[in-house]
Amino acid sequence: MHKKSRIAIFASGTGSNAEEIFNYFRNHHSIEVVCLLCNKPEAQVLARAQQWAIPARVVDRNEFKEPKVVLDWLADKQVTHIVLAGFLWLVPEYLIDAFPNRIVNIHPALLPKYGGRGMYGSKVHEAVKQSGDRETGITIHLVNEKYDEGRVLFQAKCEVDQSDSPEEIANKVHQLEHTSYPRVIENWIENDSWGAHE
Ligand code: GAR
Repeated sequence: MHKKSRIAIFASGTGSNAEEIFNYFRNHHSIEVVCLLCNKPEAQVLARAQQWAIPARVVDRNEFKEPKVVLDWLADKQVTHIVLAGFLWLVPEYLIDAFPNRIVNIHPALLPKYGGRGMYGSKVHEAVKQSGDRETGITIHLVNEKYDEGRVLFQAKCEVDQSDSPEEIANKVHQLEHTSYPRVIENWIENDSWGAHE
């Protein structure tokens, strides 16, 4: 029998995407979510993980920079893939080396627009509003050593009305994220088309 792929989710915030992922892969035939890493002790995502009985670990910046701490923990959980779901720290090189083409991120805009350091969450939607752009969307991409620059796996768009507030834009984008991210993760892992054979 094939072994299941094992996801670690890295998240810093509310965790609405993490929750969709917990739900989607519950009882999945080939993929399971085995742990959550979080950098904020007060983040709502921790309560969600607890409700789903997903083991969680909070790390501070020093622990996160320390390869042994994080890699040993991931090895202990036999993690095969890392999914960033609203995780705001740059992923260190040691993790990219340990999980080549095995780390995916979701960004709440149509990259390369509105990406890079400091562009996250509500800041992205405020910038979209300011720009007068009539569309925005989401980008799901592999993670490399630069913010928001790895290979794009998937994008989806939504309209921005002139009257939309940044919060309304955020709601539209979140809806797109929730319907797309679990399926894109599933395709990415099951088809392995961005895998080690490249
Ligand atoms: C999501 O919109 C995600 O795209 C964004 O943070 C939000 C987290 O929401 N990520 C970034 O901005 C990464 N640069 P959630 O905690 O409710 O899933």
